[in-house]
Amino acid sequence: MRTPEKMTSAQYSNNLEAFWMPFTANRQFKQNPRMLVAAKDMHYTSADGRQILDGTAGLWCVNAGHGRPKIVEAVSKQVAELDYAPAFQMGHPKAFELAARLAAMMPKPLDHVFFTNSGSESVDTALKIALAYHRAKGNGTKYRLLGRERGYHGVGFGGISVGGISGNRKTFGTMLTGVDHIRHTHDLAHNAFTRGQPEYGADFADDLEKVIALHDASNIAALIVEPVACSTGVLVPPKGYLKRLREICDKHDILLIFDEVITGFGRLGTPFAVDYFDVIPDLVTTAKGLTSGVVPMGAVFASSKIYEAFMNAPENTIELFHGYTYSAHPVACAAALATLDVYAEEGLLTRVSEIAQYWEDGLHSLKGLPHVIDIRNLGLIGAIELEPIPGAPTKRAFQAFLKAYESNLMVRTTGDIIALSPPLIIEKSQIDEIFDTLSSVLKQID
Ligand SMILES: Cc1ncc(COP(=O)(O)O)c(C=O)c1O
Repeated sequence: MRTPEKMTSAQYSNNLEAFWMPFTANRQFKQNPRMLVAAKDMHYTSADGRQILDGTAGLWCVNAGHGRPKIVEAVSKQVAELDYAPAFQMGHPKAFELAARLAAMMPKPLDHVFFTNSGSESVDTALKIALAYHRAKGNGTKYRLLGRERGYHGVGFGGISVGGISGNRKTFGTMLTGVDHIRHTHDLAHNAFTRGQPEYGADFADDLEKVIALHDASNIAALIVEPVACSTGVLVPPKGYLKRLREICDKHDILLIFDEVITGFGRLGTPFAVDYFDVIPDLVTTAKGLTSGVVPMGAVFASSKIYEAFMNAPENTIELFHGYTYSAHPVACAAALATLDVYAEEGLLTRVSEIAQYWEDGLHSLKGLPHVIDIRNLGLIGAIELEPIPGAPTKRAFQAFLKAYESNLMVRTTGDIIALSPPLIIEKSQIDEIFDTLSSVLKQID
């Protein structure tokens, strides 16, 4: 044995060195760790015994709130009953039940579901389906993939290639070839402090025509965008922008993929952003809220046109050479089914439409506080953009994050933007608490 035999679990967990933490300033964290030990409804419990209000639904995923008994029970029962079943050439009933329920929640023709284990895997799956679809239709030259500047589509090679956040791309070599990006929709000069969707900027979508003219539509398979670009700091699409993207994609036989890993499952006050914006893409990627973060799981929705294009080969052949050991994992399926029950019983997929105005008013009350250069919101999502400290980008927002945590509030920061996305069960008094705390934090930081 390489490890000392007498180490207790407490000694192991006090040794912070071995865990290489994801998307974390490891050395900073390990000097002053922020440990969470329990969670219930809207709150985390920290290791030092404080109740921390969850202003971010974990990582935009715990839509139903923490420790919901129905989900906990379903997961525990499933582990005991059927812990694992192979998804290749085998099935189990809950996988089919879940796919059918999900398909029924989406507008037609998005009626087929491919299961993954994360948002990144959903994105890579959708990109691969898009490429294989055009090949199946005899259009194999359509191999280019388009994304958008500042987009976040996870961390797989497909996702960072179509993604548009330079820090996530620059150290990872050539990534996928044949990828290009359309312009982002951030425009502080015209749209700062807009409540909801900006009036200005539908024609940002025309940048897609420019990129198509450069590469030619005969070479382009798909465009992927987040309906609301969240991880980059909440960029709300201007009115009419997404419809225009849809029209241009239709004109050129380019598949449109909506990455709804964050906007899916009630975040905007409708089940999906597809409903909110009344724009129907060809593929939709989801994860996070699908299981309310309890068990990792993702799902890609495909339109019937796409699914049918694969169903022409002889019947005993595999139509799509793609899948994961844990696709449609029974425990994840049980978690997702119970989560959908909780959403339905409590009306959570539409609840945000009732509290969005209160949220917007609270958020925008921070206008005028030190360093605040923009505030953005849609549904139960909010962002406060801060003026960066000259020569020290990200430092100001990170200070705000630390101060908020000391003040019992969890927020997220990206660049110099504070992002908010609490569980959908939040009460008005807790919305007040978030903005009171942030108001005090913004007055305290340099
Ligand atoms: C829009 C979007 N796509 C993909 C992902 C990646 O999801 P995961 O971290 O589960 O791989 C995220 C995560 O935040 C996301 O916001």
